[in-house]
Amino acid sequence: MSRLIVIGGSKGIGNAIVTSLLSSYEEVVNISRTAPEQTASNLIHHDCDIVNDELPDIDSADGLVYCPGSINLKPFNRLSISDFKNDFEINVLGAVKAIQKYLPALKNGTNPSIVLFSTVASKLGMPFHASVAASKSAIEGLTKSLGAELAPTVRVNAIAPTVTDTGLASKLLRNDRMIEKMIERHPLNKYLHPEEVAHMVEFLLSDKAASMSGQVFEMDCGIVSFKI
Ligand SMILES: NC(=O)c1ccc[n+]([C@@H]2O[C@H](COP(=O)([O-])OP(=O)(O)OC[C@H]3O[C@@H](n4cnc5c(N)ncnc54)[C@H](OP(=O)(O)O)[C@@H]3O)[C@@H](O)[C@H]2O)c1
Repeated sequence: MSRLIVIGGSKGIGNAIVTSLLSSYEEVVNISRTAPEQTASNLIHHDCDIVNDELPDIDSADGLVYCPGSINLKPFNRLSISDFKNDFEINVLGAVKAIQKYLPALKNGTNPSIVLFSTVASKLGMPFHASVAASKSAIEGLTKSLGAELAPTVRVNAIAPTVTDTGLASKLLRNDRMIEKMIERHPLNKYLHPEEVAHMVEFLLSDKAASMSGQVFEMDCGIVSFKI
């Protein structure tokens, strides 16, 4: 049976991934603290806090996508050690826990592949991003290292999105003026919508991306790549 595991598919980018991939897999397993709003006969939900709970057993899977993350923006002198630890826990150690748990299942799958999430703030220095940038840079290191270690059996890639219209980024897009400014800051005159990121995940999980592993794909609307 073809099976995709999405950690954090109840909301945001993860939910867009669940929606767009329900028709491609015989089973999509979502793991998050709340259930996705949509229901489908091939969508299985497990209530689980990735940090504190044990993950459910799954015997085989073709793909694993890890979505939980944070945007904890504060001046450096107001970021506590706990902030750094909490951000590392949800962004990095949660992904490590999920990969360690489901690697045997992936090895039982067909052309298995893992997709992780970084951020443009790992490449583009921005004030107040010290904690999230440190955690997401660790994700980029993990992507490279695991890509090498698991080759040729399991491919590992990451996507580094710019601001994406989800609950997580709602403070950054909370009124018309902020939306306008966000559009202006990006050379492509836009920010991201979760469906666009889901399309990239779909591609990276598919055999069309069979030659790509250990890569970090910027979905940056030009903000990292261009100075115009
Ligand atoms: N949105 C952006 O602008 C943006 C920009 C750059 C990078 N990213 C990265 O992209 C990824 C997805 O972001 P998003 O905007 O889609 O986030 P989101 O809207 O907050 O969704 C996060 C998902 O993860 C789940 N989750 C959070 N904490 C969890 C926990 N402790 N245990 C289990 N599940 C948990 C949430 O479900 P429950 O609440 O039901 O548990 C939800 O389904 C993140 O890694 C983020 O850092 C996002």
